[in-house]
Amino acid sequence: MFELKERDGLARMCELKTKHGTVRTPALLPVVNPNQITIEPAEMRERFGVEILITNSYIIWNDPRLREQVQGSDVHSLLNFDGPIMTDSGAFQNYVYGDVEVDPKEIVAFQSQIGSDIGTILDVFSEPDFSEVQAADAMNDTLARGKDSIDHKGDMLLAGPVQGGVFPHLRERCAKALSAMDFDIHPIGGVVPIMEGYRYSTLVDIVMASKKGLDPSRPVHLFGAGHPMMFPLAVLMGCDMFDSASYAKYARDERVMYPTGTKFLRDLHDLACSCPACVKTSVDDLKDMEKGERTRRIAEHNLHVSLQELKKVKNAIHEGSIWEMVEMRARTHPALLDALKRLVTHKDQLERFEPVSRRGAFFYCGPESYERPTVTRYRERFFSRYRRPDTKVLVGFEDGEKPYSRTYSKEISDVSTKVDASFLVASFFGPVPIELDHMFPIAQSVIPKNLDAEVLSKMRGVMERHAHVHGYPLAVMWDGEETLSFLEGVAPVGRERDSDVMMCRAVLDMQFGRGAGDILTGREIGFVKSRNTGRIRNVLIDGTHALSLRAHDGMFTLKPDGARLLMEALPPPKMRVVVEDEPAEFSRKGANVFAKFVVDCDEDIRPGDYAMVVDTKGDLAAVGKALMNREEMLAFRRGIAVRVKSMPDE
Ligand code: GUN
Ligand code: ZN
Repeated sequence: MFELKERDGLARMCELKTKHGTVRTPALLPVVNPNQITIEPAEMRERFGVEILITNSYIIWNDPRLREQVQGSDVHSLLNFDGPIMTDSGAFQNYVYGDVEVDPKEIVAFQSQIGSDIGTILDVFSEPDFSEVQAADAMNDTLARGKDSIDHKGDMLLAGPVQGGVFPHLRERCAKALSAMDFDIHPIGGVVPIMEGYRYSTLVDIVMASKKGLDPSRPVHLFGAGHPMMFPLAVLMGCDMFDSASYAKYARDERVMYPTGTKFLRDLHDLACSCPACVKTSVDDLKDMEKGERTRRIAEHNLHVSLQELKKVKNAIHEGSIWEMVEMRARTHPALLDALKRLVTHKDQLERFEPVSRRGAFFYCGPESYERPTVTRYRERFFSRYRRPDTKVLVGFEDGEKPYSRTYSKEISDVSTKVDASFLVASFFGPVPIELDHMFPIAQSVIPKNLDAEVLSKMRGVMERHAHVHGYPLAVMWDGEETLSFLEGVAPVGRERDSDVMMCRAVLDMQFGRGAGDILTGREIGFVKSRNTGRIRNVLIDGTHALSLRAHDGMFTLKPDGARLLMEALPPPKMRVVVEDEPAEFSRKGANVFAKFVVDCDEDIRPGDYAMVVDTKGDLAAVGKALMNREEMLAFRRGIAVRVKSMPDE
């Protein structure tokens, strides 16, 4: 069973339960070849903190001595490792050597017999230069073998690899078909030659197509991804597990791995590493060692840096900065930069999983940051959700210090005494109406003053689109006092506008959908403001506390009275999570909503959104924070879908 614990977009930290204990993902499974052990499995666990490893059941099956040894006991005692062990099937050996003669059902039954925690079917390796027909054949054979194998898995978890060559539609189709079968894990197969050839953009299309078809509640393993330079990108695409033979293979060739690439020992001036294998060793010490000892030391280093990189990836998921990490790592190899550019073409798929906000600021890392889901979502919602005030005049400002409403407060009040105008800043994120300047990610962002020409040109394009879509009769860019005299008498000030109410209305529309802001219309609105900062804390609607404004991201949390008003303004299924009636009763008393009880959910809900928990009749049971999107809520059988924050009957 697989449970989501923390996430940042498709990147996630989960727990996978196996017979030999729980594995925390993302996880690196070092490959152990029982015939050629570089680092003892027991040491891997004790000195390296390795939780799970992978070995090849075909090598064991095919070697009379190993086979006899394992049949008297099991694979754990063969390798002297009491944690979870995954086994592969020989599909890769068949691709490399072409002489694997084992019945697909037999090798699965064998893995189960020898006590493997996670077995793998004998899939058919779909090679990158396969034609579409060949790739489809490999896929269909894999599916047929998968179907035959399920009955032989016993109490072992079973991995069904996605094949389909370089054809995204085959990958997606294969993934869908495998998801309909009783598998527990889905490796993505047939990608080793692609990674060896640094064809990371192709890898991106393959992984994203596979993820599109896969059940989101199942762990995804990227077969043969053993280089730490791949980890951040692969995790960002939703890969949970990796296996590495590279740490040992590279070591045999005296190649030293770093998160930024690989170096030959002979080319290094310094190891530049303080892992336990390197800390008291110089390049010359290593060169002077006897070959076996040197290989072992380099293998240890390679494993240490790989595990360390994965820890950094986990920190990034925890703080919500996995995109920044991938964008920074993209500078280490041009192929990774191309891959990043390819990844953002899958923006709709990425956006569905992207949290609505985070605690830390948005950091600009380069022109690619412009295509991050947080940014594309802002622009998309600005055009589809934001409703402009009904003024005739729009005054635009250049980007400036944030918050914009403070930076331009004098200009805004000067203009407002003369004409009835709206205000907007041409920001990196797109056009930012002054009402939205406290909302994530606008105020919580660090953007350089000098933007790249590429970004500036895209920003201009968006401003032009805005001019067409939001069509103000008169729009001017602020150009000092001249603008003020120009505007004089153009559109006389009519009724007074309450900037607090305008802000709330705009944020409600952006956060919950167009129309949400109407809950303020025709009602008496009051505010509780911070004594220190003067910022809005609570919003009272007709005298009751309906909304609170979160200081860290400028977004609303809902009180039950606010939720009721929103439900009137937004028809079902908007912002609702429908829960089975009995669990809904528990949620009325404050219990979190488990994914397995979710009946349905608005497809526009994103991780981090405040949502209404309703029973099957549609009555409000609780208000809470969604931790998953719709497809995840419907797929996961474990874990929390909505963290309940308040209840109407309290
Ligand atoms: N190891 C590396 N690639 C593959 C693959 O496609 N299938 C299996 N079973 N093992 C692999
Ligand atoms: Zn080291």
